[in-house]
Amino acid sequence: MNPPGWAILLAAVGFCYVSGQSSNGAPPNFQCPVHQEVSPCVCNVKKNGLDIMCEFTDNYHINKAMAVLKGKSGIVVYYLKLRHNNLPKLQSFIFLGIDIRHLTIHNSSLAVIEESSLSSMGIGLTQLDLSQNSLGSVPSPAFKNLHHLLILNMNHNKISVIHSRAFEGLDTLEILTLYENKISTIEDGAFKGLAKKLRRLNIGGNGLTAVPKAVGHLENLRKLELQENSISHITEKDFEGLVKLDSLGLAHNHLRTVPPRAFSHLQELNSLELDGNSITHINPDAFVGLEVSLQYLRLGDNNIHQIPSDALKPLHRLRHLDLRSNNISYIAEDAFTGYGDSITFLNLQKNNIKMLPSMGFDNLNSLETLNLQNNKISHIPEEIMEPIVDTLRVVDIMDNPLLCDCELRWYKEWIKNLKDKDDEMMQKKRTVCTMENEHREYPVQNMPMDRMNCVGKNMERTSASSAPTLIVSALLPPLLMFTCL
Ligand SMILES: *[C@@H]1O[C@H](CO)[C@@H](O)[C@H](O)[C@H]1NC(C)=O
Ligand SMILES: *[C@@H]1O[C@H](CO)[C@@H](O)[C@H](O)[C@H]1NC(C)=O
Repeated sequence: MNPPGWAILLAAVGFCYVSGQSSNGAPPNFQCPVHQEVSPCVCNVKKNGLDIMCEFTDNYHINKAMAVLKGKSGIVVYYLKLRHNNLPKLQSFIFLGIDIRHLTIHNSSLAVIEESSLSSMGIGLTQLDLSQNSLGSVPSPAFKNLHHLLILNMNHNKISVIHSRAFEGLDTLEILTLYENKISTIEDGAFKGLAKKLRRLNIGGNGLTAVPKAVGHLENLRKLELQENSISHITEKDFEGLVKLDSLGLAHNHLRTVPPRAFSHLQELNSLELDGNSITHINPDAFVGLEVSLQYLRLGDNNIHQIPSDALKPLHRLRHLDLRSNNISYIAEDAFTGYGDSITFLNLQKNNIKMLPSMGFDNLNSLETLNLQNNKISHIPEEIMEPIVDTLRVVDIMDNPLLCDCELRWYKEWIKNLKDKDDEMMQKKRTVCTMENEHREYPVQNMPMDRMNCVGKNMERTSASSAPTLIVSALLPPLLMFTCL
């Protein structure tokens, strides 16, 4: 059957809509020049325009290829990728007359961007990637006409100061990343002009010692990455204007405490990363303001000595709590009282935990992942697992000095009943325990039950063959009736 006429018409309209017009008004031209004309650059035709790549070459050859493109009327270069070249200076008018939508100049020793090199691309350019070059400052005059730019990537350059109004003119910019430069100063007006649209800012991997005041004006920012700097203090004022912030990354800085109300203005904050600092103290009011928003909290690789229950208690929606690699040696009976029922992920690996309190996990009735790997735990009481074992999908107790005792039978049965036997979980089968009187280790699922004298409270001694059937049929209630002789 032939498609009806209106379908063809719609398809044609659709095509025109997708391909649009080139920004210099000529009908769009999606034909690559002859290969020799642009060599060593390579041209391919993509759905939305040409994809041109020039690698391991120099200024002379790139200029030559651009001159060929300038001669083709209506050409739409959807991607122009200049990588691994020797291109220390971007000369004025190099792209004049070429409609480029996404421009990448990566790892090309670029240090100077002349004022009129990019200004001709104001209408078409939406993405500009200048990563891994030698830029020592933001080339503001070259940027100021890019009124349609959405993404600007200047990662891995040598910028040390962001001057006031550095990005003025980039009034549509949504994503700005400056990861791994040498930035130690960001002047107060640095982000002037970006407040309406900027949603993501990455200034991680720099030399900042405090949260720059300039970020406070970015009232539409959703994600702020400040990780891998040298920030040693934060205060409530630092984040005052960031009312839309959803995600804040402060990992790998030099924080020692989390002061009261530090994030109180961030009432939409969903994710907070504080791992890899030197935090020893979290004020009980540290997370005030985040009661109904915070779901992901990372506090790993710090020097926290106990679960900061007082600070965590108001977080009614907390789902993911990561406390790995701290110095927690015990878990209080009420460590999760009053807030734990929303937590689905709890990571306590690489701490100093010796004992688990028998009721400690009672409130964690949504828990799906529990990581206790690499602690000093020898016994895991059945009572502590009973309230959570039904919801648990991942439990890791490897690398603990576990003793083979009847208390561990929950694990043997749990692993046997695992629903999704993916590889990662199967590895956990190598969890071993020590059979003290035999001076040898067993994988927990092969504990010699017949020699362990486990009994049920209301039953005679169980033998290796009868116990499992009983347990498999109903995982926990029968388990709880067992105690060690
Ligand atoms: C950067 O480009 C040079 C050529 O100019 C190349 O030798 C080097 O391998 C590139 N580095 C990376 C990380 O790609
Ligand atoms: C960890 O805590 C113990 C006391 O529980 C203390 O003796 C030890 O010094 C702490 N370790 C560090 C690295 O602070």
